[in-house]
This record gives sequence, C-alpha cells and structure tokens, in this order.
Amino acid sequence: MNKILLFVLFLITLLQSVNGFTDNDEIVVLYLEAPLFFSKFGTLLANVNAFHSGLGFYSLNSDETYQVDFVAVPGVLESILPNRIENGEIIWNTMGKVQFNDTIDKSGYWSSEKKIMTINNEIFETFLCWAQNYNESLSYYELFDVLNRDTKELEVKSVVCNDFVWAGFNALYNLGGTYINESVIASRDVVTLYTRQHIEYIEDGSTNAEVVQFYRAMLNVSITKNQTINGLINELDQLFQGNFYLYVNGDYYNVTLDKTPFTFNYSVTPLPKGERDLSNVTFLEGCYHSPNNENSSGNNNNIGKHFIGGGWVFIIILVSFVTVYMVGGVLINKFKNDKSGLDLIPNKDSWSNLGGLISDGFGFVKSKITGSTSGGSGYSSI
Ligand SMILES: *[C@@H]1O[C@H](CO)[C@@H](O)[C@H](O)[C@H]1NC(C)=O
Ligand SMILES: *[C@@H]1O[C@H](CO)[C@@H](O)[C@H](O)[C@H]1NC(C)=O
Ligand SMILES: *[C@@H]1O[C@H](CO)[C@@H](O)[C@H](O)[C@H]1NC(C)=O
Ligand SMILES: *[C@@H]1O[C@H](CO)[C@@H](O)[C@H](O)[C@H]1NC(C)=O
Ligand SMILES: *[C@@H]1O[C@H](CO)[C@@H](O)[C@H](O)[C@H]1NC(C)=O
Ligand SMILES: *[C@@H]1O[C@H](CO)[C@@H](O)[C@H](O)[C@H]1NC(C)=O
Ligand SMILES: *[C@@H]1O[C@H](CO)[C@@H](O)[C@H](O)[C@H]1NC(C)=O
Ligand SMILES: *[C@@H]1O[C@H](CO)[C@@H](O)[C@H](O)[C@H]1NC(C)=O
Ligand SMILES: *[C@@H]1O[C@H](CO)[C@@H](O)[C@H](O)[C@H]1NC(C)=O
Repeated sequence: MNKILLFVLFLITLLQSVNGFTDNDEIVVLYLEAPLFFSKFGTLLANVNAFHSGLGFYSLNSDETYQVDFVAVPGVLESILPNRIENGEIIWNTMGKVQFNDTIDKSGYWSSEKKIMTINNEIFETFLCWAQNYNESLSYYELFDVLNRDTKELEVKSVVCNDFVWAGFNALYNLGGTYINESVIASRDVVTLYTRQHIEYIEDGSTNAEVVQFYRAMLNVSITKNQTINGLINELDQLFQGNFYLYVNGDYYNVTLDKTPFTFNYSVTPLPKGERDLSNVTFLEGCYHSPNNENSSGNNNNIGKHFIGGGWVFIIILVSFVTVYMVGGVLINKFKNDKSGLDLIPNKDSWSNLGGLISDGFGFVKSKITGSTSGGSGYSSI
C-alpha cells in the first residue's frame, strides 16, 4: 500500500517535468533583465544601469516556459583580469556560453520582463538551432566595444549577454516572429572603450614583456577598492600612459586610449525591422530544425512530430505498462482466482483507497495531453 502511494507520488513528480511546446502553441518572447549583482565588483559598477539580460519564452496555451541567456564563465571579472602570471606568461580562465533552461527563473532574479514578439513552435525550434550555433561560434566573453573616436569605426565588437539577446531578436524576427506592438522598445547596456587609432594586433601577446607588465599592474590594482570604474580606468590610464592591452579570445591588441576613454550607456536600441531575410541568420549544421538541413526543410507536416520529450516517452511507457498490468491482472483474477465483477481489478483494495490521488494524477496527464491548463492562471504567477 505505502509502496503504491510512493510510486504514485514519484509518477506525479515525473509528470511535472514533462516539457516542450507543441505545434499549436502561440509563444510569447520576453526580454528579461536583472540588475547585475554588485557583490563581486564592490562599488565599481554602482550608479549605472548595469543589467544582465536574457530571452524568455512562454506559451499562451499551456504552462510551458523556456529561458536562454549568455553568460561569462566563471564571471565577467575573469574576462578582464587574468587568472595569474606564471613564468612570464599570462594565464586566463575565461569563456562565454549560452545557457539553455526549460523553465524561466521564477525566484525573483529577473526584475523586468517585456513582451516583444509572438512566434510559433517551428520558429522556436529553429531558434534553438541558431542559439546552439551562437554558443559554438562565440565561446568567449568580451565586455567592451572598442570604437575609434575619429572614424567612428567599430574596432572590436563586444560579446555580452545583450549582444546575444539582440542577435536573438534578429534571428527570431527573420524567422517570422511578429511584434506584439509595433512601437515596442527595449534598452540595453553598451560599454565602450574609445581609441583614436587603429588597434594593433600583438604577436605572442601572452609573453610580451610590455603586456605582461601591464597585467601585473592590473592584478595589482585592487578592484575591490572603493572607486568607480571611471576612477579605475583613470588610474590605469595614468599607469600605462594611455595604452590598454585588450585581451579578446586568445589574442592581444594594443589600444591607444582616447583622452576620455570610457563610457557606459544604457539606452534604447533599435529592434530589427523591415523585410525579413534569413541569409544572415546561421544555424548549427545538422541541427534537425535548421532550415539548411535537407532532412527537415519544407516538410511542414512533420514539424514537432519528431520532437518528443523524455516525459512523453515516459507517459507512453507508463500507459502501456498500466494496460498490460490491468488486462493481465483481470485475466489472472478471472481464470486463475475465479473472481468476478469489480474484484477482477488487480489489487483492487489498494487502488480504490487511492482513488482521489489517482484521479488527480490522471487529471494532470489529461491537461498535459490536451494542452489545457488546470489552474487557468497560467503564466501570470511569474
Ligand atoms: C534551470 O533553472 C532552474 C530553476 O531556476 C535551476 O534550478 C537550474 O539549475 C537551471 N538549470 C540550468 C542547467 O541552468
Ligand atoms: C555551449 O558551448 C560550450 C563550450 O563553449 C559547451 O561546453 C556547452 O556544452 C555548449 N552548450 C550547449 C547546450 O550546446
Ligand atoms: C505599444 O507600446 C507603446 C510603448 O510601449 C505603448 O505606449 C502603447 O500603448 C502600446 N500600444 C498598444 C496598442 O498596446
Ligand atoms: C604592486 O603594488 C605594490 C604596493 O602596492 C608596489 O610596491 C608594486 O610596485 C606594485 N607592482 C606593480 C607591478 O605595479
Ligand atoms: C565609497 O565611496 C562613497 C562615495 O564615493 C561613500 O559614500 C561610501 O561610504 C564609500 N564606501 C566605503 C566602504 O568606503
Ligand atoms: C603599443 O603602442 C604604443 C604606442 O601607441 C607603444 O609605445 C607600445 O610599445 C606598444 N606596445 C606593444 C606591445 O606593441
Ligand atoms: C554614451 O553616452 C554619452 C553621454 O553620456 C554619449 O556622448 C556617447 O555618444 C554615448 N555612446 C554611445 C556608444 O552611445
Ligand atoms: C542582419 O540583417 C539585419 C537587417 O537586414 C541587420 O540589421 C543586421 O545587422 C544583420 N546581422 C548580421 C549579423 O549581419
Ligand atoms: C540527413 O539524414 C541522414 C541520415 O538520416 C544523414 O546521413 C544526413 O547527414 C542528414 N543530412 C543533413 C544535412 O544533416
């Protein structure tokens, strides 16, 4: 009896993890923002609108949600400061990656969520192929845009959470996403380092004496001191007579800083618009939903059918199991144990005690299968 109770509880827990949008879902794309935690930076980023951002997805037809964001690993600080200097060589421990999560964080981490677009499940699946490609092709984190003050030329493009989000908007729009409201706007952070010259690539930068000296001093400047990032840059500026050695994905560049070398802006940034064009949206090669993949292209009748989550496989196995158990049990009770009527049901006493629980369980399964929500409140609780 207790074993069955435990089994049913276990089963209900497993069913809660069933996930995946379905073909009929209308999916809303959210722009998620969270204030950056200052614990690591002390007052360094205080008094600026510094946000982490990501993309959220929720279905208007079910409780399903999904979350994707781009993060620095192990952190933003490690993308600016090397891990250590050993035997005259600078050693880094930094990377950037896309995080996929099949629920939106509801712990209160995201302080703002803005509805941007609606998409369908096919666009969502294809978007995931794009995001995986982004993860593979941009596996580093670069905090700064480097901008030439005179020519206005972008010398280095940042690779931060917001770049991922805007590239994501671009992909979703070109895949056919429609804006919830044509006048919807969104703001993002841009950290800019200004130069007056072309930046210069430094060969073997990690062992270059000047570069090593620069990063020795960088590590020496206590980042936890009570100062602003402008103060820090000014301090560095004095230390290095206007040169900054920028580290980007394994390479070093000699950046001659402008007199006012640094800005931090949080401002409205245009969303993609106009003619939709897939040509600049790239997908993970061989990804099932990628439009470039011959195996899925054009076959619109098939969308979603191949997308069967572990939860659904489990339900199918469970239903098969219950059927075999019931039919087998009834046959055994009838012919071997000579029972009749309701007594034919195997372990009848245990099951009937559990009537309420089981009907709850099946109600849940039904809501999963029909896509209806039991509470009706749906997403608004987030
Ligand atoms: C996904 O989100 C949940 C809840 O916010 C969290 O506990 C879990 O660690 C996340 N998983 C990944 C892989 O980030
Ligand atoms: C993203 O890329 C990192 C390596 O850069 C890899 O370890 C990780 O598994 C990738 N994530 C996914 C979901 O493919
Ligand atoms: C569209 O968005 C703008 C700005 O967010 C808002 O002022 C306006 O009322 C919205 N219009 C509709 C029809 O929702
Ligand atoms: C590091 O700081 C100490 C004192 O704060 C100073 O004596 C030393 O010269 C500094 N080293 C470098 C490489 O700047
Ligand atoms: C840091 O500086 C600000 C003013 O610039 C001051 O209000 C604050 O008390 C200082 N904090 C510490 C820990 O010294
Ligand atoms: C970087 O450029 C400055 C001049 O702008 C020069 O003095 C310095 O030697 C250069 N550093 C390296 C490592 O090339
Ligand atoms: C950032 O803001 C400053 C004013 O605070 C402005 O002069 C500058 O052009 C802005 N930079 C960018 C890249 O928008
Ligand atoms: C893709 O095209 C859009 C508009 O056609 C453009 O704004 C965007 O910069 C392009 N993106 C890339 C990565 O080329
Ligand atoms: C299509 O599928 C076949 C086998 O199922 C595979 O050999 C082939 O590489 C796939 N094509 C693409 C473009 O992924």
